[in-house]
Amino acid sequence: MSSQWGDAILDVYEAVRSRRSVRGFTDRQVPREVLERVLSAAAWSPSGSNIQPWHIYVLTGEPLAELKKRAGKRVAAGEPWDEREYEMYPSALKPPYGERRSAFGKERYSALGIVREDWEARQRAAAANWDCFGAPVALFCYIDRDMGPPQWADVGMYLQTVMLLLRAEGLHSCPQMAWSVYRRTVAELLSPPDDLILFCGMSIGYEDVTENYVRTGRAPLDETVTFVGG
Ligand SMILES: Cc1cc2nc3c(=O)[nH]c(=O)nc-3n(C[C@H](O)[C@H](O)[C@H](O)COP(=O)(O)O)c2cc1C
Repeated sequence: MSSQWGDAILDVYEAVRSRRSVRGFTDRQVPREVLERVLSAAAWSPSGSNIQPWHIYVLTGEPLAELKKRAGKRVAAGEPWDEREYEMYPSALKPPYGERRSAFGKERYSALGIVREDWEARQRAAAANWDCFGAPVALFCYIDRDMGPPQWADVGMYLQTVMLLLRAEGLHSCPQMAWSVYRRTVAELLSPPDDLILFCGMSIGYEDVTENYVRTGRAPLDETVTFVGG
């Protein structure tokens, strides 16, 4: 089957099921026309009053190599993170969120063979964020600092649309708030206008299938969904 977007068609359920945060990519390059096709289609994501509050930068090649180098230097030097422009999580994650977060940490680090107490190994694993897990493409998503929760939600819908479309192209991704703590280094390369906040990065590329991973679990349906009526 083909469409006006091209020949890459994947069942929506399959796209949703096969999307996961991939944290190991090969260095195989992603053709520019594939990225343009994905981002042109993702532009059809919904947003309140159609204001389309996302500002996207796509970094590849030499500028991405430079970003990874600069971020890597900061990691190696143990430089402090940039001051936050938004809080990633509430300061105390009440039940059930705290438990879900711990369960995720356990799943992620046990897949890497890292025990919880091994703080250094966990730091090393986290540092891979700033190498984009080896990916050849990084997408950075900014939002105007005037925007409120509904527009941040719009941006989330947009990003999920991008990630699903990437699956249709045989690509994988990992959304990364981690970049927000190195936002000044990102800004050195991108020079975004001052009125934008960096929400997150996203590593994009072809999966390195030799990397270990554990598929993250999900809460049972009745924990998060309430049907009212017939
Ligand atoms: C907005 C957002 C930011 C995220 N930031 C990071 C990150 O900085 N580093 C990382 O490794 N994963 C990050 N993730 C991935 C989540 O850990 C992941 O989506 C979650 O554990 C569910 O796993 P799955 O995506 O593999 O289904 C982020 C996800 C979202 C939606």
